[in-house]
Amino acid sequence: MDNKNTVTLINNSTGEKFEFNLIECTRGPKAIDFGKLFETTGIFSYDPGYASTAGCKSTVSYIDGQNGILLYRGIPIQDLVEKYSFTDICSLLISGKLPKDDKESKEFELDLRQLRYLNEGLIDIFKAFPDNAHPMANLSSAVGALSTFYRGYIEIGDDDDYEMMAKRMIAKIPTLVAFSYRHSIGYPYIYPDVSLSYVENFLLMLRAFPGGKLKYTLDGEVQIDPLEVEALDKIFTLHAEHGQNASTTTVRNVASTGVHPYAAISAGINALWGPSHGGANEKVLDQLAEIGNVKNVNKFIQRVKDKNDPFRLMGFGHRVYKNYDPRAKVLKKLKDDLAKKGIKINDRFSDIAEKVEEVALTDDYFIERKLYPNVDFYSGIILSALKIPVSLFTPIFAIGRMPGWCAHVIEHIKSGARITRPRQVYEGK
Ligand code: ACO
Repeated sequence: MDNKNTVTLINNSTGEKFEFNLIECTRGPKAIDFGKLFETTGIFSYDPGYASTAGCKSTVSYIDGQNGILLYRGIPIQDLVEKYSFTDICSLLISGKLPKDDKESKEFELDLRQLRYLNEGLIDIFKAFPDNAHPMANLSSAVGALSTFYRGYIEIGDDDDYEMMAKRMIAKIPTLVAFSYRHSIGYPYIYPDVSLSYVENFLLMLRAFPGGKLKYTLDGEVQIDPLEVEALDKIFTLHAEHGQNASTTTVRNVASTGVHPYAAISAGINALWGPSHGGANEKVLDQLAEIGNVKNVNKFIQRVKDKNDPFRLMGFGHRVYKNYDPRAKVLKKLKDDLAKKGIKINDRFSDIAEKVEEVALTDDYFIERKLYPNVDFYSGIILSALKIPVSLFTPIFAIGRMPGWCAHVIEHIKSGARITRPRQVYEGK
């Protein structure tokens, strides 16, 4: 082996030397193959939070955190968000390729339409939840419960099964989110409408009065604005996939035990809920309300920097991005474009957010730590403008992330990966 492709580990207490192979990635830095580290050296690695550790090989997405680049299946997200619908992105992530023409795109989208309905038994489960439950709690339970209706996927086998498993999940997740929301406000459920697109149908299930009708005015029925549909479609695309983040890693870890894929995805939904991960989008809006006025931004930033205060600037910072999150850039522009096109954006929140960004990006604390706005920083302002209730921000993230989770569950099961089983540094008696 050419020693340029190895690293040598020297144990300074015994003088022993051990050589490890370097793994070439198609993009980005190399990785040390430490799979046999313990077997060959009798010592193991300690990496809390796995900041330097890869737990799998993947072809689904690539992130260059230094340069703020994100590719889904090799394609920059900026291109995808401009040219393709969210359902095309689902097809790309699951099958590895974009639909080759409009016909293929439409066929995939129509397949999803047929699968939107829920078994009535599953709908009864919602009735048991208290009204004030967080929709993320309802959602993870409902997705776990889906495994009881599609039990066969425990022994998932051929490519058609994998595809159907993923399509079912992607098609039903908006229905689950909408039903959990309607339950939380005590409104009757609105069943999916197969005549509508993915996003239109979701908005209908959230907003419609019983009977499927939207609001009436003297001018007639108020339709769902195509600008809203386009914006939400882009938001879903921007959240569709992001490598080995906490929720995707959870999905893969749980799948590694050989469990039902929907049980693994349900665990991922729980991981997403936390404020350090997808739950940050909800907290960003609370934060903007708390700041209240642009003139309070400087004082707020001082508090965030206080080491004796665990408080953090929500929507800022990222484990991998040490540059502007490319998704946040697209979202910031989307916010401004929507405002120009007449969608009413909360100007006060928008101004506060821009001021926070301006102050933070010129402050040594943030510069030294390379803390930039992440995907959650501007998404909440847009979702509010689309009249989405704050409690649904993280469930909306879950709808967007579903194709990514499905792609990883498929990749993980097919790879025949070993069960995830890290070690621990024992500090007990
Ligand atoms: N506000 C203030 N300080 C911060 C922030 C923040 N948002 N993020 C990181 N820091 C500081 C830390 O205090 C630490 O400072 P120190 O070196 O003086 O101790 C340093 O930056 C490094 O922070 P870590 O916690 O080591 O970074 P880590 O990679 O573990 O955490 C995380 C990343 C969880 C995203 C963090 O930046 C954070 O809590 N951000 C706010 C929550 C948020 O927006 N989450 C969404 C992330 S995107 C997503 O998951 C969809």
